[in-house]
Amino acid sequence: MSLTNKLITLTGAASGIGLSTARLLARRGALIALADYDKPNLEAAYKELSSLTKSSNLSSTTLDIRSTSSVNNWIENTTKHFKRPIDGCANIAGFHPLWTPKNVQDISDEEFEEVLSINTTGLFKCVRAQLKEGVFNPFGGSIVNVGSVSGLIGFAGDSPYVASKHATHGLTKSISKETGARNIRINAVAPGQTNTPMVHAMAAHKGVLPTPPVSLGREGQPEEVAELIVWLLGDESRYITGSVYRVDGGMVE
Ligand SMILES: NC(=O)c1ccc[n+]([C@@H]2O[C@H](COP(=O)([O-])OP(=O)(O)OC[C@H]3O[C@@H](n4cnc5c(N)ncnc54)[C@H](O)[C@@H]3O)[C@@H](O)[C@H]2O)c1
Repeated sequence: MSLTNKLITLTGAASGIGLSTARLLARRGALIALADYDKPNLEAAYKELSSLTKSSNLSSTTLDIRSTSSVNNWIENTTKHFKRPIDGCANIAGFHPLWTPKNVQDISDEEFEEVLSINTTGLFKCVRAQLKEGVFNPFGGSIVNVGSVSGLIGFAGDSPYVASKHATHGLTKSISKETGARNIRINAVAPGQTNTPMVHAMAAHKGVLPTPPVSLGREGQPEEVAELIVWLLGDESRYITGSVYRVDGGMVE
């Protein structure tokens, strides 16, 4: 498989889509630098993944992607730890507020900025660190950012999240124009509603929004999103960059 012994960094590794992606990468023999700000769940993920791959194939870092220095140190230390450049990055960490949907006039500065600081600025900080000189394999590689169907259409009551995910897609498309000459591809995936702890927590807080009908008539599973992320990380997708791939069971067009 094309990902064997390739070094992949992964944020959001402690839960949901990130953890499913880590499992798949572990089975493919990749070297994985796991990161998340949820220390207990990250430790549990590391333990589980150690049963799927050699522990020398794994590193684990508790960090908040909002911190520039933490993100820069993580990426720098990753290349030192594995003694090789990075071949791919899955920027999956994301946040959805747990409040009941609110119209824009009821949203505070703090509420709006919290969502943007993680989903947009935090993701920007990750990609910036990953693209610094000497970090990526000089032959190129692949970055995958997790956006959302909320980056393609609007949802009433959810404007901060929708704005943050439109920004994820915009960053991805723009950066792809800068990295092509280095043979670094960068794409986004746009999941529809997916069965993860994020959605369970939103449901418990009555925060799940009415969504358009899904052609396949069910929500997605995190493994189904992970399959797409891993395909975009690998050489099988070598002529694809600057794209946004929906994995939503046919929710939006
Ligand atoms: N589940 C869905 O329906 C759905 C749909 C579309 C897009 N997404 C996106 O998929 C991605 C993964 O979400 P999920 O559903 O697996 O949710 P999840 O809550 O299960 O996992 C998200 C992970 O990101 C981590 N995280 C959040 N903020 C962080 C920060 N500042 N620093 C470091 N780690 C942080 C969390 O601790 C958690 O482990 C997110 O970007 C989310 O917006 C999810």
